[in-house]
Amino acid sequence: MDATVRTLADELAWATASLAEVGIDTARLDAELLMAHLRGGDRARLILDADVRADGDLRTRYLALVARRAGHEPIAYITAKQGFRHLELAVDPRVLIPRPETELLVEVGLELPAGARVVDVGTGSGAIALALKQERPDLAVTGLELSEAALALARHNAARLRLEVAFSASDLLDDGDYDAVLANLPYITDGEPLPPSVAAFEPARALYGGPDGLRVIRALCAQLADRPGVGAVALEIGATQGEAVAGFLTAAGFGAVEVRTDLAGLDRVVIGRRTR
Ligand SMILES: C[S@@+](CC[C@H](N)C(=O)[O-])C[C@H]1O[C@@H](n2cnc3c(N)ncnc32)[C@H](O)[C@@H]1O
Repeated sequence: MDATVRTLADELAWATASLAEVGIDTARLDAELLMAHLRGGDRARLILDADVRADGDLRTRYLALVARRAGHEPIAYITAKQGFRHLELAVDPRVLIPRPETELLVEVGLELPAGARVVDVGTGSGAIALALKQERPDLAVTGLELSEAALALARHNAARLRLEVAFSASDLLDDGDYDAVLANLPYITDGEPLPPSVAAFEPARALYGGPDGLRVIRALCAQLADRPGVGAVALEIGATQGEAVAGFLTAAGFGAVEVRTDLAGLDRVVIGRRTR
């Protein structure tokens, strides 16, 4: 082949080197994800098409995407999508990018009895609420969110996925009747250093929870003390917050409290159940 002709393999090698140079440790994966996104196929296709010529238009558009990633913008914002359980969610800087460890909260929701009324507080993109509704259509699922901007995206996700979840604006719980509460609220300590891809791009109100990281979770637990009808609650936490949040739930009247770990073995979810 003419030495001036650039193939997809050449483009991938160039992008990988460029991303590695700025300290991105998933450089090859990211280079492939961006190319697959541009071409509308999956990463496996790139292996089959390694010798395909990269035309000028593709190269220009690829350069622009790789430059964004080199500036540490998360892949999910560049491609405007993120997988979560069985769903592909639309995401953009209005919402936190749903994380794999948050799928644990959905798993707790799957244990609920048939027809339970469940609310996802701080729903963001709608990830927890929508995944739960998709896997358990019998549940009545609500998503509450402080940010109107995030709520608009959650509603967009529900419409495109054709999932019936009621989304409303609310500062923590509204006055609806719920049997169970699931929540991944902000829990990072103010000022804690975060990777540039998180700190510079994801919404601060989705991340930071005050001087001890527990301001929002504490407020939700205080609300739950006055909601005897809520029989079960599951809260995502930071790895060092298990004991504190277990204490909040005990104080709110949940007689059985359990801390579950994620795949990395870190405390990740605190579950409270009323014993009556
Ligand atoms: C860590 S993000 C989680 C988003 C989504 N649940 C997920 O797991 O991907 C926390 C979300 O809680 C929302 N939030 C923060 N404070 C809130 C409050 N007082 N009431 C309702 N939502 C709140 C933020 O706007 C943000 O969307």
